[in-house]
Amino acid sequence: MSKYLVTGGCGFIGSHLVNLLLAGGHTVRVLDDLSTGRRETISSGVELVVADVADRAALDTAMRDVDGCFHLAAIASVEQCTRDWAGSHRVNLTGTIAVFEAAAVRRIPVVYTSSAAVFGSASERPLRETTPATPISAYGADKLGCELHARVAGLVYDLPTAGIRPFNVYGPGQDPRSPYSGVISLFCGLVSEGKTLTINGDGQQVRDFIYVDDVARVFAAAMGGVSTDARIYCACTGHPTSVLELAKLISELSGVAPKIAFAEARRGDVRNSVGDPARARSELGFSASVDLRSGLRRTLEWMASERGAPVMAAARR
Ligand code: NAD
Ligand code: UD1
Repeated sequence: MSKYLVTGGCGFIGSHLVNLLLAGGHTVRVLDDLSTGRRETISSGVELVVADVADRAALDTAMRDVDGCFHLAAIASVEQCTRDWAGSHRVNLTGTIAVFEAAAVRRIPVVYTSSAAVFGSASERPLRETTPATPISAYGADKLGCELHARVAGLVYDLPTAGIRPFNVYGPGQDPRSPYSGVISLFCGLVSEGKTLTINGDGQQVRDFIYVDDVARVFAAAMGGVSTDARIYCACTGHPTSVLELAKLISELSGVAPKIAFAEARRGDVRNSVGDPARARSELGFSASVDLRSGLRRTLEWMASERGAPVMAAARR
């Protein structure tokens, strides 16, 4: 059994990864500044270091006795990074370099979080690890920067890494109240309250939605795939869903008629994002196990239980 540091472990994806590692019998330490993450999401047996991920001294201490690091701390909202370009760069790229630097001193392998946002305007379908990255947002550019620095970390500092490019992750634990949350948690929250969903743009933009527990499994598997070649893996299902289809499906599962308003498209919004899961399947033995309908039902059930409300009939079927 191993001891791991998980940065961003109080967040949405990080907390699911922490639970998976604990279930596997591992010991976990979390480093998180609690900016979007919540202390209550991690169980009492987990050591929590409240610190900024760009703080080298805090990282040095947090890494002192671990066998590996999962690095997830970041500002995860593309829109928030657009609004705070330099501030998000400090966390998303400088923070990642600080993690690599601290890990290189002790040669601790790092599985770090990139994003499907690196593909940006790439029109290939499906998107593969070999598709040229052309980010169109500050967030995507910094995530690509993380991948380039992982390459340098391997070549210059002998640091073994693996990079994960999650596509659009959803599931229980994503905060429906934050305007910077993912579209599924926002839509599920609004539908549950009978409110109108706002679609940015024409709703024909496409995403590859992947359930959070599936993504956590990719991270865990990738610790076995680290190397100084800085290998990268897409975490995706290969199934496209447009935002308009998504709005209708969530309404259907909730047993209500869709109430939809349209607003301006977001700046830096990716049009088509569908991944190819082939590399993760062949090299990490991963394939997604939760389809969108089942995952949405679980998400709606979780939201209802959080509110203490009964689950709507259609979501239970
Ligand atoms: P999240 O906001 O729930 O989690 C991020 C965590 O990092 C939070 O606990 C937050 O408190 C912490 N954090 C933020 N800034 C920090 C800092 N300066 N120092 C220390 N901790 C800090 O978001 P998430 O969706 O769980 O995202 C986790 C990772 O996955 C991020 O790197 C994100 O970019 C990436 N990602 C997310 C998705 C998605 O669809 N949610 C897709 C691709 C990539
Ligand atoms: C998401 C992740 C990002 C990740 C990327 C990988 C979040 C908050 N962001 O970005 O971390 O790296 O996937 O692909 O999880 N939309 C609406 N109405 C809304 C909210 C969103 O129409 O109320 C639209 C957006 O314009 C966008 C789509 O839904 O076209 C998805 O938006 P969002 O969930 O914010 O995710 P991404 O920007 O794709």
